[in-house]
Amino acid sequence: MHTNAYNYRVVRQFTIMTLVWGALGMALGVFIAAQLVWPQLNFDLPWTSFGRLRPLHTSLVIFGFAGCAQFATSYYIVQRTCQTPLAFNRLAAFTFWGWQLTMLILLVTLPLGLTTTKEYAEIEFTGAVWMAIVWITYAVVFFATVARRKTKHIYVANWFFAAFIITIGVLHIVNHLAIPVSWFKSYPIYAGATDAMVQWWYGHNAVGFFLTTGFLGMMYYFVPKQTNRPVYSYRLSIVHFWALIGLYIWAGPHHLHYTALPDWAQTLGMVMSLILLAPSWGGMINGMMTLSGAWHKLRTDPILRFLVVALAFYGMSTFEGPMMAIKTVNALSHYTDWTIGHVHAGALGWVAMISIGSLYHLIPKVFGRQQMYSVGMINAHFWLATIGTVLYIVSMWVNGITQGLMWRAVNVDGTLTYSFVEALEASHPGFIVRWVGGLCFLVGMLLMLLNSWLTLKQPHSPSEVLQHAS
Ligand code: HEM
Ligand code: HEM
Repeated sequence: MHTNAYNYRVVRQFTIMTLVWGALGMALGVFIAAQLVWPQLNFDLPWTSFGRLRPLHTSLVIFGFAGCAQFATSYYIVQRTCQTPLAFNRLAAFTFWGWQLTMLILLVTLPLGLTTTKEYAEIEFTGAVWMAIVWITYAVVFFATVARRKTKHIYVANWFFAAFIITIGVLHIVNHLAIPVSWFKSYPIYAGATDAMVQWWYGHNAVGFFLTTGFLGMMYYFVPKQTNRPVYSYRLSIVHFWALIGLYIWAGPHHLHYTALPDWAQTLGMVMSLILLAPSWGGMINGMMTLSGAWHKLRTDPILRFLVVALAFYGMSTFEGPMMAIKTVNALSHYTDWTIGHVHAGALGWVAMISIGSLYHLIPKVFGRQQMYSVGMINAHFWLATIGTVLYIVSMWVNGITQGLMWRAVNVDGTLTYSFVEALEASHPGFIVRWVGGLCFLVGMLLMLLNSWLTLKQPHSPSEVLQHAS
């Protein structure tokens, strides 16, 4: 195996940008969380208002942080498991610079208020076309590498990355079909309920494929690597794969309960969401059971702790999701902070934690260093991230249920018991706790940046010099 021929340069570039966009996106998350506590922080300026910074937060964390993490790990894993260097180094470099340009477009246009208004698909037409070009190039590099593999079979992690790449490409293109009227304004080709359905078919699968499937690919590679044991059940991983991708695509209508969407479509979305619990938990159990006989490693290995706690949060959020998809539960949870708590159970607990664990494993390897500079700092990061996530989720549960119950309370004469402002006042303590939780998570992320910087300042490890040179 000629490891020195692997293209680690692009992996290193995406790794660095994962940390940068992660820190920036989370700092913005902490800032908008503070705006909900102290509204003066909107500064009465349009481009610093909550309404414009919120989509910037989601774009930086989803496309910047989670996106770069998946580019970095997929490029790393596909080379190692196919035992072949990345195909088309120039195209791979183009995906890196092209993706960063996409992020810059978002960074400039969203605060200026240039947006399609479709959640997670806010980038206007010209930017969306550019994003599609970069994504198709990514597909070419990834699939050409798989095609050139020296191994007979395709390791399961690559299946998950392949599904992620194909589905996101299709979703992005179909949801962005629009008629441009200028460089920065376009109108969707769909109207009314059809537009809403296409948007939430996209939105839900952005969650299913951009925030889940690629990370499962990460899980299937880094959990066995870090525990030094094979995947618990390879057969289960295949069943998990087909069941997950087969079901996710149908669940979108649970975002549109009690709307103008036909009733049968809402019920279909609900039922598919409930069934989705099975493959989600199948994957979680497969990851967890990979630790059989190696649980003691958790006592000394904070990287493994990140990976395992991420799986626990994955299990938790994929139990909560199907429950929230039940129409009667959704009647209470929709529009409330409960949804926001669910989002961050997945986003912080699962997406961020699995990425952080994977990157701690990967950074010394691709930068040619023996190990991370400080294990103590990784440990501190782990506790900050776990406590931060728990504070975030619990405060949003309390807020969500409080808001839902206050909004629906009626007096005997049919008038509302509480005004909207009263429910907002009741949410204030929860907003403060969420802000503190977010701050903890951010401090952990900054520790990771520092630890990575100090790792890079260490001398190269002799056995890794060759790899680093590539
Ligand atoms: C079996 C798995 C899951 C199911 C069935 C599910 C279901 C749901 C439901 C019913 C909602 C509320 C929709 C509404 O009332 O508007 C929701 C919202 C959301 N979920 Fe999940 N969820 C699952 C897993 C996850 C995971 C793992 C993540 C993150 C990584 C996630 C991220 C989100 C996001 C971002 C939203 C908010 C969408 C929005 O309104 O902007 N979900 N989910
Ligand atoms: C320090 C960490 C973070 C903090 C403090 C934070 C804070 C926030 C806040 C205050 C909101 C707006 C909530 C509202 O409208 O009421 C939000 C929305 C959102 N955040 Fe974060 N966030 C953080 C990290 C992340 C990460 C890492 C991800 C994804 C990987 C993420 C994904 C989202 C999404 C998808 C929404 C929109 C939810 C919806 O529309 O239902 N956040 N975040």
